[in-house]
Amino acid sequence: MRVGVLVSGTGTNLQALLDAQARGELAPATIAAVLSNRPEAPALGRAAAAGVPAEVVDHRGLAREAFEDRLLARLAAHRADAVVLAGFMRVLTPHFVDRFPLRIVNTHPSLLPAFPGAHALEDALAHGVKLTGVTVHFVDASLDGGPIIAQTAVPVEDGDDVAALRARIQREEHRLLPRVVQRLAAGRLSCQGRHVIGIRAE
Ligand code: GRF
Repeated sequence: MRVGVLVSGTGTNLQALLDAQARGELAPATIAAVLSNRPEAPALGRAAAAGVPAEVVDHRGLAREAFEDRLLARLAAHRADAVVLAGFMRVLTPHFVDRFPLRIVNTHPSLLPAFPGAHALEDALAHGVKLTGVTVHFVDASLDGGPIIAQTAVPVEDGDDVAALRARIQREEHRLLPRVVQRLAAGRLSCQGRHVIGIRAE
């Protein structure tokens, strides 16, 4: 399975995927290309350093579908048959999502359905929850609402700020996302309605 990774920012989750690939732990998945909507995303440098094609597909000035068409064209050029959203900060419409049914995964820094959206860490802290975590899920056209593949719970400690909580969540995210990608590529995940079977909680 050839995976296109979409990024917008720092790329620590991309790095976890690249490191897993270098250790031989991602097979039969291969990272075919990394596409960023932001030219300044540090994630691009991580891909290049690992010898993976890294390209910018800038969303600015484009209607959503026109942007998605450019993404689809680059993914096709790299013969990607699955997509990982690793800190990709654009909402994808059915125009894109319907091209990869059960072949797009996203990682989100909360235990969904709690705290969807772009401010999951801030929202969890503001709410005062004692447990939050990571959710890796299939992407459909809803906002962070697709079938849940795997979750890891992470405690919120007294006195946590966003940076401290993010660091604790990302440690788990960096373990979970490569495991899910490997299972998906190996054909080990099956989905019945909202219920995804094939990966054990650790
Ligand atoms: C991750 O925490 C992910 O859950 C969220 O965006 C963040 C991206 O971080 N969707 P990075 O760019 O992988 O470091």
